[in-house]
Amino acid sequence: MNLNSKKKAIIIGGSQGLGKSISENLKLAKFKVVACSRKEIDTSSITSVEKFLKKNNFADIVVLNSGGPPPMKFNDIKINDWKKYFNQLFLSYFLILKNLKIKKNGYIFYISSSIIKEPGNSLIISSSLRSAMSSLLKSYSLNNLKRGITVINIAPGPFKTKRVRELVSNLKKFEKQLPTGKIGDPNEIGKFVRFIVENKIKYISGSTVYFDGNINKSFL
Ligand SMILES: NC(=O)c1ccc[n+]([C@@H]2O[C@H](COP(=O)([O-])OP(=O)(O)OC[C@H]3O[C@@H](n4cnc5c(N)ncnc54)[C@H](OP(=O)(O)O)[C@@H]3O)[C@@H](O)[C@H]2O)c1
Repeated sequence: MNLNSKKKAIIIGGSQGLGKSISENLKLAKFKVVACSRKEIDTSSITSVEKFLKKNNFADIVVLNSGGPPPMKFNDIKINDWKKYFNQLFLSYFLILKNLKIKKNGYIFYISSSIIKEPGNSLIISSSLRSAMSSLLKSYSLNNLKRGITVINIAPGPFKTKRVRELVSNLKKFEKQLPTGKIGDPNEIGKFVRFIVENKIKYISGSTVYFDGNINKSFL
């Protein structure tokens, strides 16, 4: 019997895009996968998160992921935009980390964005809240070292999902401007997560892994 089948993986935002690719790869590795869409948990609604946590109070692997905010000019951002995405991309994740028990030697993956390293002038809500969340995640990681919880912040550049199709009008033209001439394949992120958990890679804990095809020029 494959021992993974006794382990539960909860993928928030696991119904499409990067989250779906992680869900499918963990299913291939025989984990018991709960792949959530907004029907199961909507992280912009604290009520929805609390309801979800009543039914789901433990896991071996959790992926913190959901939809991204739209690009907006600095002066167009309203208080309510901050509130909605603060709930969606920060407070809900905090509540999940606080209330969902990750079993000893478990894993947390957080899908942030490569713009945490280089904020631009339009995805301001995204880069600000994901930077804050990256800091919170590091604190969580430090607080859970003794329990062997491995925490990895995955910071993607452009990957071929619905999200990118919403942000980019001409994909071919966009790809030509990228350092590799190619947009990322979501399956690579799924395979990476599978590799880490199947091989019980632990010492990477607390790291941010940039999956951006060399868009950021820094080696740090
Ligand atoms: N793709 C990229 O190039 C890229 C680059 C950097 C960062 N990111 C970030 O990575 C995350 C995943 O991106 P993606 O490209 O995989 O997006 P996607 O293809 O649009 O998929 C988003 C997933 O999140 C779920 N979701 C959306 N809003 C949610 C909410 N309020 N609460 C809970 N779940 C929610 C969706 O569920 P439904 O099925 O219910 O819609 C879906 O499963 C996003 O935060 C995105 O901004 C993506």
